[in-house]
Amino acid sequence: MKADQNELITRVGPGTACGALLRSYWQPVALLDEFDPRLDPGSAARPVKPVRVLGEDLVLFRDGAGRFGLLDRPCPHRGADLAFGRCEEDGLRCPFHGWKFAVDGACLETPAEPIGSQLCQRVRQRSYPLQARAGVLFAWLGAEGSVPPALPAFDAFLAPASHSFAFKGLWHCNWLQAFEVGIDPAHPSFLHRYLSDGSMADAEAYGRQFRAASAGEVGGERWPMTRIMREFHRPEIRFDAVAEGLLRLTTLRPMTDRLTHVRVTHAAFPATFVIPLSETITITQMHVPVDDTRTYWYSFFTSFAEPLDQEAMRNQRLACVTLPDYAPIHGRHDHWGFDPEDQRTRTYLGMGEDDINLHDQWAVESMGEIQDRTREHLGTSDKVIMANRRTLVKAIDTVRAGGRPPMALAEAEAAALVGPDTIDCIAPAERWEEHWTEAARAKRSGATWLRGAGQVAPGEVASAPAEAGR
Ligand code: FES
Ligand SMILES: [Fe+2]
Repeated sequence: MKADQNELITRVGPGTACGALLRSYWQPVALLDEFDPRLDPGSAARPVKPVRVLGEDLVLFRDGAGRFGLLDRPCPHRGADLAFGRCEEDGLRCPFHGWKFAVDGACLETPAEPIGSQLCQRVRQRSYPLQARAGVLFAWLGAEGSVPPALPAFDAFLAPASHSFAFKGLWHCNWLQAFEVGIDPAHPSFLHRYLSDGSMADAEAYGRQFRAASAGEVGGERWPMTRIMREFHRPEIRFDAVAEGLLRLTTLRPMTDRLTHVRVTHAAFPATFVIPLSETITITQMHVPVDDTRTYWYSFFTSFAEPLDQEAMRNQRLACVTLPDYAPIHGRHDHWGFDPEDQRTRTYLGMGEDDINLHDQWAVESMGEIQDRTREHLGTSDKVIMANRRTLVKAIDTVRAGGRPPMALAEAEAAALVGPDTIDCIAPAERWEEHWTEAARAKRSGATWLRGAGQVAPGEVASAPAEAGR
């Protein structure tokens, strides 16, 4: 890749071409947890948080009536920092001269001005539309006055609170390399390899996802995903567009003449992947740039069976980060906890068995803040990454030309994009395709919350017209 091309697809600040593309989508900006007084007592007294997203500094607050607002951070009077504002019943007040702004950016008061002043009516702070889904606040950062797209009807955004859990984490790297690790089906055979198998019990606990059993059996025996990944490390990777901007990744690992391991995941343009955590839980992960060199991942866990134990899931994850930034405890400063003895005897990477998120963090951060793609050598196993970059460059051009990029959906298109399904299973070699489709259907039919939600069966998404409504 040429250096200018790498710049094009990684720079996301105001005025950049890729930044304009990413402003075509709703972007996660905070967990609702961050405004939960039980989890953050400080937020009870003063629910105001500075937010940096796509290289812009904003302030997120909840007024006394419970409404959220996301505003530009410099006060429109003389530029003082509204993140230090006084949070009041109906808005956020700048402490410099007392100007007050409602959640929609309307100026409510300019108390130092003479009585009868009309200045308020001529001032408006830029505010950004928000919506809460599955424990996460999403913001629309597109051009003022333009119509936001709709979020797809993905399971992760529709599941009830009882079957959802959301968390986030900060990585010190560019958004694209953070996303590219998630659409790379070859790496689990290496990066997440355990040198021996250990117990499958508690495999849904934090950071142990490849310990879980793959669905199905080999000679009457259940196998953990990690054993399959380790023993069959040369996968056949396929990808199909099930809609414009939604790729289904099918990764096949032939095991015996009769058995094939099938892993199905999805990549939703521009920065979301959907993968299985276990037989009944799916992870939908979005990647939002803080700026060019830092990225938040937001994970949505969605259960198709039992309700989730949010408190346990949250506590396991909080133990690995520091607040308020959700910055991981390990990182470049301590060599990501690297231990040569662990690498020799226990894991392929040498960063322990308990937190595979740390493995991914090392992969994406050790490349450098912005990966120098002029020096890379892509192979056949990188085919999804190549396809995604082609889509990305094309979408940047589309937005430059005033068009609508993939996955910036109209309501009807969004309603048709359901699922997407994930699976990790051992299938009969000769009918693996039917096998995984049936397994995915069975998983969905086990989800009581999907009944009556108007969702179609797996497979039908493939027929969703990609061009509908255009
Ligand atoms: S700078 Fe904010 S009120 Fe004056
Ligand atoms: Fe990974």
